Amino acid sequence: MASRILAAAATATVLFAASTHGAAITKRQAITTLSTAQIESFKPFTFFASAAYCNPSTTLTWSCGDNCNANSGFQPVASGGDGGDEQFWYVGFDPAQSTVVVAHQGTNTSNILALLTDGDLIMGNLDSSLFPGISSSIEVHQGFAASHARSAPDILTAVNSALSAHNSKSVTLVGHSLGAALALLDAVYLPLHLSSDVQVTTVTYGMPRVGNQDFANYVDAHAHVTHINNEEDPIPIVPGRFLGYHHPSGEVHIQDSGSWDACPGQDNTSDLCIVGDVPNIFDSDESNHDGPYDGVEMGC
Ligand SMILES: *[C@@H]1O[C@H](CO)[C@@H](O)[C@H](O)[C@H]1NC(C)=O
Ligand SMILES: *[C@@H]1O[C@H](CO)[C@@H](O)[C@H](O)[C@H]1NC(C)=O
Repeated sequence: MASRILAAAATATVLFAASTHGAAITKRQAITTLSTAQIESFKPFTFFASAAYCNPSTTLTWSCGDNCNANSGFQPVASGGDGGDEQFWYVGFDPAQSTVVVAHQGTNTSNILALLTDGDLIMGNLDSSLFPGISSSIEVHQGFAASHARSAPDILTAVNSALSAHNSKSVTLVGHSLGAALALLDAVYLPLHLSSDVQVTTVTYGMPRVGNQDFANYVDAHAHVTHINNEEDPIPIVPGRFLGYHHPSGEVHIQDSGSWDACPGQDNTSDLCIVGDVPNIFDSDESNHDGPYDGVEMGC
C-alpha cells in the first residue's frame, strides 16, 4: 500500500521533470488532470506541511491536532525554530511513506503578502559555505535565504541522523507559504551535503517565487519538485516575473472545481495554471492561501 502511494507520487514527479526537459526539444506537453489516486498520494505530505505550524514541543509528541495525528506512525527525530524570527521546523521518519520528512512552518497570509509586495525584493547570491560550488548567476530572495540559513545546519544534522537511524535513502521536503520557499532552498542545499544515493523529493503548497531564471533552471535540472497552489491564491504569483523572479517547473494548480491540473513548464500562462488564472493580486483571494488542499487547511 505504502509503496503504491509513493509510486504514484514518484510518477507525478517524473511526469513533471520529463515535461521540463522535453519542452525545448520535443513536442509541447499537455496540461493533465491528476487522478484521484494521484491527488491522494500527496495527502500525507499535506498533513506534514500543516503540522509544521504546531510548536515542535507539541509536534514531537505528535498529538497536536488532527493534522498531526493524520500521520500517526511518524517518528520525530529533531525540531527547532521559535515561530518568530526562525520558522518552526521538524525532521523525522515516516514508515508509511518510507521516507525521512523535513517540514518547514510558513507564516500567515497578510505577513507574507506584505513581505513580498512591499518588502525588500532584492535578489542576491546563495551563501557559498552553505551552497558550495553554486554558480554566481543564481540569485534568490535575500529574506528567504537569511531565514533558510538560520536553520540549515541543524536540519542537515537531523536529516543525516534520521537517515542512518532508519537506514533510509529517501528524504521528502514539505512546506506551505514561507515554509514552501524554505523547503525549495533545502531542495538545493541538502543534496550538496548528503550522500549522492539519497533521493530528495519536494512537495510544497502556496509557494511564492524564490529566485531568478537561473535558480529555477537549476531546480529543474537537480531537484524533484511539485509545487501545489490553490485557486486564486495571491502568494504563488509574487514576487512578480517583471522583477526577474521565476518558478521552477512542477506546478499543480487546484481549480475552483476542486480538480488538480499538472502544468508543464515554468510559470505556465494557461488559465488552467496560476499565472493565467490570477493575472494580478487584485484578481486574487487571500483566503485561498491556506487551502483547502484536498480537504486539508494549513495551520496547527
Ligand atoms: C500575522 O502574523 C503577525 C506576526 O507574527 C502578527 O502580528 C499578525 O497579527 C498576524 N495576523 C493575523 C491575521 O493573524
Ligand atoms: C503550458 O501548457 C501548455 C499545454 O496546455 C503547453 O503547450 C505550453 O508549452 C506550456 N507552457 C510553458 C511555458 O511551458
